[in-house]
Amino acid sequence: MSDIFDFEKKPDQYAVMGNPIGHSKSPVIHQAFARETNQSLEYKAIHVDLGGFTQAVRNFQANDGAGLNITVPFKLDAFNLADELTERAKLAGAVNTLIFQKNGKITGDNTDGYGLLGDILNELNWPIKGQRVLILGAGGATRGILEPLLKEQPFCLVIANRTASKAKDLADDFSLLGKINGGGFADLGKQQFDLVINATSASLQGDIPPIPETIFADNAKSYDLMYGAKPTAFMDWSKEKGASEVVDGLGMLVGQAAESFYQWRQVRPLVKPVIELLRQDMV
Ligand code: ATR
Repeated sequence: MSDIFDFEKKPDQYAVMGNPIGHSKSPVIHQAFARETNQSLEYKAIHVDLGGFTQAVRNFQANDGAGLNITVPFKLDAFNLADELTERAKLAGAVNTLIFQKNGKITGDNTDGYGLLGDILNELNWPIKGQRVLILGAGGATRGILEPLLKEQPFCLVIANRTASKAKDLADDFSLLGKINGGGFADLGKQQFDLVINATSASLQGDIPPIPETIFADNAKSYDLMYGAKPTAFMDWSKEKGASEVVDGLGMLVGQAAESFYQWRQVRPLVKPVIELLRQDMV
């Protein structure tokens, strides 16, 4: 049949690439955003073999791909593949969103920090300005949230990590942006914090970073970047040790997706209904 009878335009194509990818919630999230904002698009999850990332992105782009989310373990590959990077992606040193420009160029962005800050400030209404903030862990997840956190002008930001040197190096890298220090868990001593963010992958193994039990100041909040059907071990521990509010990272997950969606579509979806939808699905 001739093309002139092909009146129906194919919806814009999006996907998340990762390995593994089976449990990704991104398709459900973006399909919900599309319904909510009346956007015509398709979004799927693509399993990419290790070593096959660049080819997979090129194939997707050649097949009318409009944008991609990138997850573990390809965020650094995406950073290297992008023709241009947003400022926040440069600072994060990783890319979770690729935007295909009309001229064929690929822009790399990182929406993880935006997702966390949106959740903390707008959904949870927790303050950051003037607060003592502690981040546990000094890997890629921590690097991605440092700049947006420092922008909110906490009183101080401390990074504590199992490998103290990594926390110190990270603090040095960001020292021009605010009052920031790094060290080991034992260095925390009797210090107390108003907001503690767990950015280690310890929760994946049901572990809790060995931090002092006295870490939470009065009315302190605790945020675990991990999420699941049940509270993480760190969330239970935080409650036990006196944190006044304790949450997991589902809000950040939906927030970073909403910001990717906005970068692709210039339409900002509501996050709350989608957080609720996912929460219902998980129980
Ligand atoms: P991500 O990109 O998710 O940050 P990563 O770069 O592998 O992943 O970093 C994982 C972080 O979790 C690191 O800070 C790691 O500590 P080390 O730098 O000492 O390896 C931390 N981590 C992992 N398992 C942990 C555990 N059981 N207890 C405490 N910290 C842990």
